[in-house]
Amino acid sequence: MNKIKARIGILTGGGDCPGLNAVIRAATKAAVHQLGMEVIGFVDGFRGLVDDESFPLTFDTVSNILNQGGTILGTSSRDNFFRVPMGPSQKVPPGKDRLPDALRTFRKRKLQGIICIGGDGTLTVAYHLHRHGLPMIGVPKTIDNDVRLTDVTFGFDSACTVATDAIDRLRTTASSHHRVMVLEVMGRNAGWIALHAGLAGGGDAILIPEIPFSLKRVYEVVRQRSRRGRRYSIIVIAEGAHPKGGSAFISFSPVLSNRPRLGGIGMLLSEQIEKETGLESRATVLGHLQRGGSPSFLDRVLATQFGFAAAGLASQRRYGKMVRFLGGKISTVNLSQVSGRPRNVPLNHPLIVTARALGTSFGD
Ligand code: F6P
Repeated sequence: MNKIKARIGILTGGGDCPGLNAVIRAATKAAVHQLGMEVIGFVDGFRGLVDDESFPLTFDTVSNILNQGGTILGTSSRDNFFRVPMGPSQKVPPGKDRLPDALRTFRKRKLQGIICIGGDGTLTVAYHLHRHGLPMIGVPKTIDNDVRLTDVTFGFDSACTVATDAIDRLRTTASSHHRVMVLEVMGRNAGWIALHAGLAGGGDAILIPEIPFSLKRVYEVVRQRSRRGRRYSIIVIAEGAHPKGGSAFISFSPVLSNRPRLGGIGMLLSEQIEKETGLESRATVLGHLQRGGSPSFLDRVLATQFGFAAAGLASQRRYGKMVRFLGGKISTVNLSQVSGRPRNVPLNHPLIVTARALGTSFGD
């Protein structure tokens, strides 16, 4: 008699990032090939779950996607289908709670559990669903690297590689034209990308949200370099960085007015530097280039390990967990410990200590 196979779902939530397809591929292949399970993929993140839109994931559907950026499943980052409080205000957003729809799909598709690949926000929703009867496994993704209790998220290495390459490219114009070049990188309210790429690219100042900067100090950095015959400077600034006593620079889309967007601080800083120091300055906003394209070698390896580990947890019915990379090893942690709190750069982080020792300014 044929044994009914256990079936799991996979979804990707939040902003896309390099390595999502590598996780989907590894989880599906391990589940189908080694663990004897069936897999379906929900379309556009939690939207596919509440609207019951999915398709089977098989060896064929996940073939040839390891090196592809984005997600073959699609994602959604603007909707809060389950009215989960998010952000600093922690207010419950208005609207209909679609939890009953998610539970209905779960039962109808005869699922045993769901692998949910996402950042801080998506993992918070995953934990909420887990508490309300949907067995969940989390996989930490984000270029921002701000998920708690993992040393690293996949996507981060690819983003830092792009940002470091951008610094290298800006350096040629900076030195030829004797300019101050300001590069604004992503990262939300955490400075991980700016710190790593800034160090790798040899930025003269690295400005991160965790260390509010003094404008005067930044002017001093470029003036001092100019006095010492260094005829250009490179400043790497995180989109969430802000001056002392100020707050992050945000704007609102006319369409999605409930979702503030970070970005623009680089341009402002560049204008101020030019005005105050008389040195020519230009700003570049790297934006979504950091999220696009093929995953780096490291992200492919990490994402593949995460996908395999997540499928293993599902086959053992160990739900309510997130897979992670900690201390050089893949392990697991409870979703409850991860949910709701992003991870910032600690002020005594070894890379900050190293950069300071080399004379890099953090604008403080
Ligand atoms: O979380 C990833 C990220 O790229 C952040 O670094 C950035 O602030 C945000 O997403 C941008 O989101 P969106 O693509 O929705 O504008």
